[in-house]
Amino acid sequence: MTNKQLSTKHLLGIKYITRDDINLIFETTDQFKEVINRPIKKVPSLRDITVANLFFENSTRTRISFELAEKRLSADIVNFSASSSSVSKGETLLDTVNNILSMKVDMIVMRHPAPGAHMFLSRHIDANIINAGDGTHEHPTQALLDAYSIRERLGSVKGKKVVIVGDIKHSRVALSNIYCLNKLGAEVKLCGPPTLIPKHIESLGVTVEYNLRKALEWCDVANVLRIQLERQQTKYFPSLREYSMHYGLSRQVLNTLSKPIVIMHPGPINRGVEITSDLADSEHSIILQQVENGVAVRMAALYLLADKRD
Ligand code: CP
Repeated sequence: MTNKQLSTKHLLGIKYITRDDINLIFETTDQFKEVINRPIKKVPSLRDITVANLFFENSTRTRISFELAEKRLSADIVNFSASSSSVSKGETLLDTVNNILSMKVDMIVMRHPAPGAHMFLSRHIDANIINAGDGTHEHPTQALLDAYSIRERLGSVKGKKVVIVGDIKHSRVALSNIYCLNKLGAEVKLCGPPTLIPKHIESLGVTVEYNLRKALEWCDVANVLRIQLERQQTKYFPSLREYSMHYGLSRQVLNTLSKPIVIMHPGPINRGVEITSDLADSEHSIILQQVENGVAVRMAALYLLADKRD
């Protein structure tokens, strides 16, 4: 493994890391991908390190992926769900975390509905923190595994054209992808109903296209997002049927393009809404490769951050 180090002791967001950090995570991921494809998938790199996985919001992929990554690095693990904890009795986030840390926990992986929750914690505790999603703000390991999957499929990220389609307004995946792809030299376009594209988003170095077909004709890769109904307090479009008619990806739409494109989705998929079932499962899709890469990317992030412990 490398002697190089990350510039930071936490992974709070892609905004707060450098291009060199991302490339170091990718180089390390390459090595861990080789490890997890061996018959014995475990290495002792995080032996004697204890990681707490604190999930204050639901998760399937991220939670399982982190847990597998930690186990394959031989870390000790404790898991916490807000629904079955004393949070429901009124305990604050800081009290909850400090109580867990007093049991000698070294690293925290946390998903929380409040944007900035991880930044707040990082000012009060010494343990390394990895953001596994904070509300509508960032989901850095998702963006890293997305960019890593583009690099794997297309050879590099630099110069590639990536369109992110869907509910940009409520998506932490979109924001982290924008930061990550920009840092790696890709061109980024956003596509969706005007009500789901934040005003002034161009200031982040992206362009906007409201016509799905034009956006797809432009791109090499389409990263398709689901509509986050759980974060929407108002109606942003008339019905899911109409959303699907205008912004849903299907084989029929792809067949009208002048070249093949790569289809990505961070999951969970709402089949038949933002993407048809046959396209999600087609040769164009790298959705399950993204999930597979997630374990190695998270192993790399955990390994490199453990090296930054005080
Ligand atoms: N992509 C993602 O964050 O999925 P989960 O919500 O299942 O973790």
